[in-house]
Amino acid sequence: MKKTAALLLGIALLTACGTRQTDQTDAEMDRFISNLMGKMTLEEKVGQLNLVSVGFDITGPILSENVEEKIKAGQVGGVFNTFTPDAVRRLQDLAVKESRLGIPLLSGYDVVHGHKTIFPIPLGLSSSWDLNLIGRVTRAAAEEASADGVNWVYSPMVDIVRDPRWGRVSESNGEDPYLSSCIARTMVENYQLDNLAKANTVMACLKHFALYGASEAGRDYNTVDMSRIRMYNEYLPPYHAAVEAGVGSVMTSFNEIDGVPATANRWLLTDLLRHEWGFDGFVVTDYTATMELVHHGLGDMPKVSELALNAGTDMDMVSEYFLATAADLVRSGRLPESVVDAACRRVLEAKYKLGLFADPYKYVSEERAKNEIMSADKLALSKEAAIKSMVLLKNEAEVLPLKANQKVAFIGPFVKGRRDLIGNWSAAGDWRKAVTVWEGVANTVGTANCLYAQGCNLLEDDALIGKLNPHGAMIEKTAPAGRLLQEAVRTARQADVVVAVLGEPFGMSGEAASRSDISLPENQQALLRALERTGKPIVLVLMNGRPLTLPWEDEHMDAILEAWYPGTQGGNAVAEVLYGKANPSGKLSMTFPRNVGQIPIYYNHKNTGRPFDPHQKYTTKYLDCPNEPLYPFGHGLSYTTFSYCDINLSSTTLPANGQLTASVIVTNTGKHTGVETVQLYIRDLEGSVTRPVKELKGFRQVLLTPGESKQVKFTITPDDLKFYNSQLDFVAEPGEFQVFIGGSSANVKAASFVYE
Ligand code: BGC
Repeated sequence: MKKTAALLLGIALLTACGTRQTDQTDAEMDRFISNLMGKMTLEEKVGQLNLVSVGFDITGPILSENVEEKIKAGQVGGVFNTFTPDAVRRLQDLAVKESRLGIPLLSGYDVVHGHKTIFPIPLGLSSSWDLNLIGRVTRAAAEEASADGVNWVYSPMVDIVRDPRWGRVSESNGEDPYLSSCIARTMVENYQLDNLAKANTVMACLKHFALYGASEAGRDYNTVDMSRIRMYNEYLPPYHAAVEAGVGSVMTSFNEIDGVPATANRWLLTDLLRHEWGFDGFVVTDYTATMELVHHGLGDMPKVSELALNAGTDMDMVSEYFLATAADLVRSGRLPESVVDAACRRVLEAKYKLGLFADPYKYVSEERAKNEIMSADKLALSKEAAIKSMVLLKNEAEVLPLKANQKVAFIGPFVKGRRDLIGNWSAAGDWRKAVTVWEGVANTVGTANCLYAQGCNLLEDDALIGKLNPHGAMIEKTAPAGRLLQEAVRTARQADVVVAVLGEPFGMSGEAASRSDISLPENQQALLRALERTGKPIVLVLMNGRPLTLPWEDEHMDAILEAWYPGTQGGNAVAEVLYGKANPSGKLSMTFPRNVGQIPIYYNHKNTGRPFDPHQKYTTKYLDCPNEPLYPFGHGLSYTTFSYCDINLSSTTLPANGQLTASVIVTNTGKHTGVETVQLYIRDLEGSVTRPVKELKGFRQVLLTPGESKQVKFTITPDDLKFYNSQLDFVAEPGEFQVFIGGSSANVKAASFVYE
């Protein structure tokens, strides 16, 4: 009897909103939700704040038990880590048909660089500097995920990163606030489009709010401590950009800010996010972050739940602390019911905006899953994205591109290795579907002229293997190191050129994968040293999730191609680039240091009061290493070369409310057609607070055939000069500015103007 009543009420609700159109006004939504909340008990409202993990991707303790019973009891607002139409339908059935009010579930997942078709890791994709490409990749991910039962994705991750020891730099867009903001905006717009209720859109979740990328010493989950002025100018802009683009949800970060962990930080979640930025979606914690407040030392379970809810957290991922405590906190007078009401309303609004009340099965379609998942167009896009993400770090004497008639020895465990190609956080991706480098070479030029040797095991370090294998790394020592090395040297001697494909097994970067030494694994370095002694030209292809320290490799390798973890089509992409079917155009979105002692290292640093002067002792420098990185932000070569003429400024003064243009002529001076990313940087020479030596303010990509020239023009307005001053006012201050244009942050033309 009770079940029938619940079912009828559920159906009544569905019918009531089934007639609603996607352009419903906020007032209609408010009425609908007020009406629904009027029927909810306090416990049911708290139930909406509970997010449980049902599935395999576990990044902490498994706490979700009796999930089915809880869903039926109205104690679950959302699930994550489950996908496929069938699995999600079963859970949605429980919520819609068997809970008293039939409220549908959110269905979340970590769609970080693709869902089933895996694209390059975000650090790679950001190196494409191609917003159109990133938009298409995001759309493809949304199409696949939404066809597979997912309506909410934990992306974009926009943490600014300056410390490559931190494993999660692989998930980020690198070090620059401007580039990362452009990407954040593009991704939110393409996940959500202009209507979340469409079956092929998903709600984005901005993460990790905030400053997670600044963990001390690059150690994951570590303390963050930062001045407000740095926060506002350097770390917050990408989050703000995503909020301005209308992101539907925000995930708190694990770290503390001003001594208060993000999940309990009212200044962060309410004053800044909601009041200052006008965010109107809902806030979810990261995995067990509410529970972790106890470890942070903020109190016991009821206390930290109270703190998190009062701070502005709405949904509790995995901890189930809100479920356990919030109703009692309200009843005992410790927590105003209005706080629970507001959180519940925000979660229900998200469901309403996604169109779930109108059709709880909107994102569950076998038909769409069949057509969308790993479709030919997505695989083609995966290859295109991998090609455009690769960064040619070095190419001496034009050893690349390879010629089809050269005898090439492909050496290294990544040549035929498949497991690592899709990298970390390729959650639903199937590594078995990835194309290896060897297969890519076979597809591109055939392997008749190619030799192969494994060269080394992925790793020799048993302690490290022991840490990685329990998490899916599948690292095996297939043969004794000495034998593999000898075989490799013999193979190299028979070739005209050696291509060594090396890197980090995927588990060496990503979450909980910080390293204090970011060089290639020692056994791989030993292989390179042995290969180098053969005197053959060597191309090093790298697959890894972070900037590595490569001083020896830079000195001794003839070419270095950074391929990141390139994704499902990785092998085809690598082969096409190596053999010149495609010309690399990626530019680093994160600085490569010479050694870990230089970290944190980033291009937009301050001048200091004692800027570097090689002739003066008391200036800012190291005794044992230059200040400059090995490869700077924005660096990336092409098989062709580009020249820049001097900057032409339309005026040397910029009036308030006015604008000026800065243009250059870029010429392809080499032999191949290629794409150049032209970068605009500005320096504020005189400020009320110290300003960086340069800051990226724009970029444009131009395709040039050999000998062709194009003018590239940037418009500069006072908005481009604005920054947060000591009072945290966003201002442009009059004075002299320098403008730089070039193909890397360290290789630019300069001009100057005065802002009046
Ligand atoms: C990560 C998040 C992720 C979440 C859910 C956490 O461990 O920090 O980035 O979205 O797990 O899987």
